[in-house]
Amino acid sequence: GLCSAGLRDRASRKIGVALSHLHLGSSQYQYIAGTEFNSMTAEWQMKWDPIGNDPNTPNFAWAEELMSFAARHNQSVRGHTFIWHSAVPTWVQALENNAPALQAAISSFITSTATHFRGRCYEWDVVNEVIEGDGSYRNTIFYRTLGTTYIADAFRLARAADPYAKLFINDYNIEGVNAKSNALYNLVVSLLAQGVPIDGVGFQGHFIVGQLPTDFAANMQRFANLGLDVSITELDIRMNLPPTAANLQQQAVDYANAFRACYQVARCTGVTVWGVTDLYSWVPDFFPGQGAALLFDEQYATKPAYYSVESVL
Ligand code: XIL
Repeated sequence: GLCSAGLRDRASRKIGVALSHLHLGSSQYQYIAGTEFNSMTAEWQMKWDPIGNDPNTPNFAWAEELMSFAARHNQSVRGHTFIWHSAVPTWVQALENNAPALQAAISSFITSTATHFRGRCYEWDVVNEVIEGDGSYRNTIFYRTLGTTYIADAFRLARAADPYAKLFINDYNIEGVNAKSNALYNLVVSLLAQGVPIDGVGFQGHFIVGQLPTDFAANMQRFANLGLDVSITELDIRMNLPPTAANLQQQAVDYANAFRACYQVARCTGVTVWGVTDLYSWVPDFFPGQGAALLFDEQYATKPAYYSVESVL
C-alpha cells in the first residue's frame, strides 16, 4: 500500500539488491534501492575487469560510488567477485600458460582489492562459477594455467587481506541437488579438510518461472551442515516476453518459495535480488526474448512478486 514500509523493515535477514553506478542518476532507482533493501552488491563494479583494466592503477571509483550509496542508506555490502572467468582484464588474458605471472597478477589483485575494501564487506564472493554443469572444473584461463590450486590460493589471499569478511564460493544451477551441486559439495568438503578459509556458499538463483527446484532448502541445508553460511546471492526469475498475468502470478509463487527456502535454513544469511527494475535487468541482454525477472517492472511499479515476498518476510 501507499504507506507501507519497505521490505527491509520487515526482513529479519539481509535483503539485498545488485546496483550499478550507471543508474544512480535516476531518483526512482535510488529511492527504491534505498528504501526496500538493506544490503548492496555491485552488479559489475567490484569485478577484476572494471577495477584492474589498467595493470598499474586500480580503479575503485565506480565501486566507491556504490559503497557511498550503501553507506548513506545504512546498507551492508556483499563483495562480488575476485575470480570470475567473465571479468578478466585483457592484459591478464594474455598471461595464459604463464603460471608464475598469472599467479602474481591474481595475488596482487586480490590483496589490493580486499585490502582497499577491508572491513566494509560482510561477505565476499572469492571465486565465482568454477564448476561446470556436469560437475567437472570449469575450463577457464585459471584452470588451464594453474590447475585447481588457484581456488584455495584465492581464499587464503582474501582472508589474509580482509579477515572481517565471510568468504564465499558462488555459483548458479546449484540450487537443487544435481551433478553440479554435488561436485561443488565435494569441492567444499575438500577445501575445508585442507584448512582453506571458506565460510559460505552463494546460490545465485537465476531461475526460469515455474522451474524452481523443490529441494532448494534441503540442498542449502546440507552445505550449512558442513558449518558454512549459505546465501541466495543473485535472485531473479525470468519469463518469456511480454509477461502474461499467469506468468507474473507464478513468479510471485516462485519468489515467495525462494525467500522461504532461505528462511527455512538457520545459516542462510539473506537473499539478494539481481537488480532494482526490469528496465535495467541483465536478463534481456543475456537471454534474448526473456525478462521481467525482478520485483519492480520497467515503470518501477511493484509486481505481484513484490507482495508475495512481503508476505513471507
Ligand atoms: C552480470 C551483470 O548483471 C551484467 O551487468 C554484467 O555485464 C555481467 O555480469 N552471474 C554473476 C553475475 O555472478 O556477476 C552476473 O552479473 C550474472 C551471472
